[in-house]
Amino acid sequence: MKIAVIGSGGWGTALAAMLAKNGNEVIMWSFEHAEYERLKNDRENRAFLPGVLFPEGLECTEDISVAKDAELIVMAVPSFAVRSTAAKLSPYISENQIIVNVAKGIEKGTSKRLSEIIEEEIESKCDVAVLSGPSHAEEVGRGVPTAIIATSRSQKAAETVQNVFMNDKFRVYITDDIIGVELGAALKNVMALAAGICDGLGLGDNSKAALMTRGLAETVRLGTALGGKQETFAGLAGLGDLIVTCMSMHSRNRRAGILLGQGVSAEKVPEKIGGVVEGYFATQSAMQLAKKVGIEMPITEQVAKVLFEGADPRNALDALMTRDKKKESGTAWS
Ligand SMILES: NC(=O)c1ccc[n+]([C@@H]2O[C@H](COP(=O)([O-])OP(=O)(O)OC[C@H]3O[C@@H](n4cnc5c(N)ncnc54)[C@H](O)[C@@H]3O)[C@@H](O)[C@H]2O)c1
Repeated sequence: MKIAVIGSGGWGTALAAMLAKNGNEVIMWSFEHAEYERLKNDRENRAFLPGVLFPEGLECTEDISVAKDAELIVMAVPSFAVRSTAAKLSPYISENQIIVNVAKGIEKGTSKRLSEIIEEEIESKCDVAVLSGPSHAEEVGRGVPTAIIATSRSQKAAETVQNVFMNDKFRVYITDDIIGVELGAALKNVMALAAGICDGLGLGDNSKAALMTRGLAETVRLGTALGGKQETFAGLAGLGDLIVTCMSMHSRNRRAGILLGQGVSAEKVPEKIGGVVEGYFATQSAMQLAKKVGIEMPITEQVAKVLFEGADPRNALDALMTRDKKKESGTAWS
């Protein structure tokens, strides 16, 4: 199959290399001229995915119009660039193509899911799918066994994505719950920041387990209020991605949280991390959505205070530990 991968950061590169190894004809588009030149000459992404040499069948381009010849288009740009990139792609999209978004986030300002934004910009000319779940580019690049989830409003599109991406090291499940998958993906980045803060403050395993569990509880609360299915949040796109992001040093969001916990200011952290920290945008959007549907998200609220109001992470922790007494879930008591 002819595939265009739009975006050549860590994730775009890992997926482009894997899809070429799967036997597809893959062309990867770079946003920046210098990045395109480096990738074309080195046949390796030394900045974002060192050590993964480009296989045969993977070519580079800086001309986005190549998308018009592709049957499948993988969008792998940071969430803030999804709208502008989809707008650039739109003239080259036609009805028999499928766009697969692999970015994770919610749009700042509109609080829309990324597949909604793509559909808007391409005027629903083709099916849009989403690929999400616990998957570090560094590990997929090395062929580490990985399980992930694909979803779309179209069953045929979800099945096509499953068929094209799947191999003996990359297992793809499918679901029809596009809302749950996209919200799970975006909100786990907020929890990864919080988990990193726990680590940066030098707290223990108990604290991290509590954070992840209660973080999942508020993710489910918001996600189901917005139309996601509860079971999706217990699956790869929810719990799976939460575990991988909160536990791993590959996660930029967790590393960002560690710096915050160690006292680095929220403004300085992205520069030290050297890449997109999606959780910053996701935290703002989650707060907007929570307000809109009247849902309590205490952990997200404290992360927002640390990121945007200069709150001391220790005070944020105290605020969480000294909240009113609660039941964990519904009970049969009066
Ligand atoms: N890295 C991972 O392991 C991983 C895994 C799953 C999902 N994701 C998601 O994939 C998306 C991309 O992440 P990444 O890790 O590949 O990012 P990255 O930071 O490695 O790369 C960012 C890329 O975006 C390009 N870019 C910068 N500004 C742009 C703009 N205005 N328009 C278009 N492109 C622009 C840069 O040139 C670079 O190629 C994110 O939403 C991330 O959450 C990443």
